[in-house]
Amino acid sequence: MFLPNRNALYRQPLDAADVETLGIAGADTVERFLARRDNHVATPLRELPALAAELGLGALHVKDEGFRLGLGSFKALGGAYAVFRLVLEEAGKRLGRPVDVGDLDRPEVRSVAATMTVACATDGNHGRSVAQGAELVGARAAIFVHAGVSEERVAAIARYGAEMIRVDGNYDDSVRQAARIAAEKGWTVVSDTSWPGYERIPGLVMQGYTAIVREALRQLSEPPTHVFVQAGVGGIAAAVAGHLTIVLGAARPVFTVVEPARAACVFGAAKAGSPVKIAHGEATVMAMLECYEASPVAWRVLARVADGFMTVDEDDAVAVMRRLARPVGNDPAIVAGESGGVGLAGLVRAMADHKAELGLDGASRVLVINTEGATDPRRYAELVGMSEADVLAGKVLSGATQ
Ligand SMILES: Cc1ncc(COP(=O)(O)O)c(C=O)c1O
Repeated sequence: MFLPNRNALYRQPLDAADVETLGIAGADTVERFLARRDNHVATPLRELPALAAELGLGALHVKDEGFRLGLGSFKALGGAYAVFRLVLEEAGKRLGRPVDVGDLDRPEVRSVAATMTVACATDGNHGRSVAQGAELVGARAAIFVHAGVSEERVAAIARYGAEMIRVDGNYDDSVRQAARIAAEKGWTVVSDTSWPGYERIPGLVMQGYTAIVREALRQLSEPPTHVFVQAGVGGIAAAVAGHLTIVLGAARPVFTVVEPARAACVFGAAKAGSPVKIAHGEATVMAMLECYEASPVAWRVLARVADGFMTVDEDDAVAVMRRLARPVGNDPAIVAGESGGVGLAGLVRAMADHKAELGLDGASRVLVINTEGATDPRRYAELVGMSEADVLAGKVLSGATQ
């Protein structure tokens, strides 16, 4: 399904708060922090000329976030960055002097961090980032996972020394539980979704994602004409669309948000004109996108700068994982986890059904983001039809399994 943005706020200027969050100064800070990470390198931008030709496009590029900071997904950019910023702010307050990223390893900053516990709910990837950030600065992490999060994903987070807390219900229930228990215990909630009165920290998480856009614009010879980004609560879509709008202005690409039909909460917000709780149905294979209420901060941005909202079916997501694993012509193989290729799945659908509405043709240069590698190798192997041993042995090229 495709819904053009007919919102009253469409094409209105971004709110000042969102320009501050997603603008150039914020992206500069993110890069300054990233430069100090041991394993930071720009993720690869893959060109897929054979698939572009098959689809009838001028060019197709995939930014491969499977290689991000050894964590296997773009979420590595957000949670850990927010944890660093919050620890530095607290240390600055307690020490009574400004501290910056270069001070993170100082004993006096680490002793402040040691008194802090950061908490969040997660489908898997965000919690891994928060836990990694906490471990790096010497803080504690308490990560809440709902019933549908696989044991593999839980183990991948626990590896960073986090306390894992299983809760009943779905992702939205785990968000509420994390907020309630954190308030009781005095923990700092580092959530990737926002709610009324809680916007700044999810804003920092989104600010972390702007690094993807910066890198992509440097790696491309000219800006894309179209961008398709998948959404859970809408954080990455808003960060990408917002930053592109701030840096490119009227020359920004046509931006489409893509979601599973079974969990299309941003689509729901677009229909209703503001974030609403959508009905729960069957679980989606696109596990990281299983969210039933959009983040209000993300929606505030997308209402203004997204051009359209799409849903894709379960089969679309799996077909795209297989297509990326076994590419046509000389295109490079890409390992895309269940939620990784969903932007591309949206593009494939759009080329079949919505070309005219989106102005897609043989001159279009499209950018999509593979938001995760095989972050759950067993599930990946099952869906793509490979052996798990091959995936784990690294025979399948993926940052996520390294
Ligand atoms: C791999 C992957 N892709 C996309 C998303 C969606 O991100 P957001 O919730 O910011 O919309 C997530 C969220 O966890 C994710 O893990």
